[in-house]
Amino acid sequence: MIKSIEWSENKLTIIDQTEIPRNLIYLELNTIQQVFEAIQKLRVRGAPAIGVAAAFGLYLGVRGRSFENRQSFLSEAKSLADYLASARPTAVNLRWALQFINEKLQKTQGELPELIRKVLEIAIDIKNDDQKRCDLMGSAGAELIQPGMRILTHCNTGALATAGIGTALGVIYTAHRQNKKLQVFVDETRPLLQGARLNMWELEQAGIPATLISDNMAAYAMQRGMIDLVIVGADRIAANGDTANKIGTYNLAVNAQYHGIPFYVAAPLSTFDFSIKSGEQIPIEERNCEEITRIWGKLPITVENASCWNPAFDVTPAGLITGIITEAGIADHPFEDSLTRLKLNSQVHKNHKELIQ
Ligand code: MRU
Repeated sequence: MIKSIEWSENKLTIIDQTEIPRNLIYLELNTIQQVFEAIQKLRVRGAPAIGVAAAFGLYLGVRGRSFENRQSFLSEAKSLADYLASARPTAVNLRWALQFINEKLQKTQGELPELIRKVLEIAIDIKNDDQKRCDLMGSAGAELIQPGMRILTHCNTGALATAGIGTALGVIYTAHRQNKKLQVFVDETRPLLQGARLNMWELEQAGIPATLISDNMAAYAMQRGMIDLVIVGADRIAANGDTANKIGTYNLAVNAQYHGIPFYVAAPLSTFDFSIKSGEQIPIEERNCEEITRIWGKLPITVENASCWNPAFDVTPAGLITGIITEAGIADHPFEDSLTRLKLNSQVHKNHKELIQ
């Protein structure tokens, strides 16, 4: 399976996802500013992947620098974390990873350079942990999948979007390995085409039959009885199960409910924001107009100076979601209760328990 983020020989390397599927380019990132730019420009994207990238970005921001004392290091680490977190506002994994590192640093005894080494140690831990979470989500979710199912998915949620096999796409990979002979319908995912560019590329490599549709074809495919199940990922899930994910997810959920098709979200517990009660409190990133006035930011498709609105995510109300697949099991309604149970009863990550808040 392709690795979207690697840390080896003291270097951070990512796949530049803006180049897929035309070119497979590995970028070496040496500074915190380069990591910020890569996150903001979607060279690295997908909620878990940007959390992992930011963790290494923080290390690059403190590596090789001298600090007066422990306190000045801790306050600099906090402001660098705020800087990185501002790259993208919706995906909570970014904030979660940075906050996790800062909390661990506060509790770590010792002085520099031990504290600096600690940042790297935790970043590596977060990356390995995400990989494990993906495997567990894959196994939990694959149980829902019957042989021959036709599954619709939206945006890219696979190896490119995480440090492991992915979330929604990870479930699909796992079911495929179980020889369930799936057919995947891939929403192109306007405006930045994560489905057409990235999912189609990943699924082709995995040898999984995939059919590309444009986003506005999904309801018709459902009406014609072509879809058995919808699985999507998430960028932030509120305590009540309301889910922010790539713009267009809400359309799919409304359409799935109308047609009586189960609609599942797959996300690790690091994508939950238990500090907010509902989706109304999730900040939604609004991006540059050129992403919709031009195809792939280049070819103009509308009048010059067209005004536009370009929210990158939407919020699907919990009531439209059949269940949420996590690494600790599948949450069902009422989500508040079952998520609390999953968190408490989680037997997973014995060595990484504190990574699950
Ligand atoms: O803007 P993107 O491409 O980062 O949006 C990504 C998504 O919406 C994914 O569905 C989500 O992050 C889950 S990734 C495992």
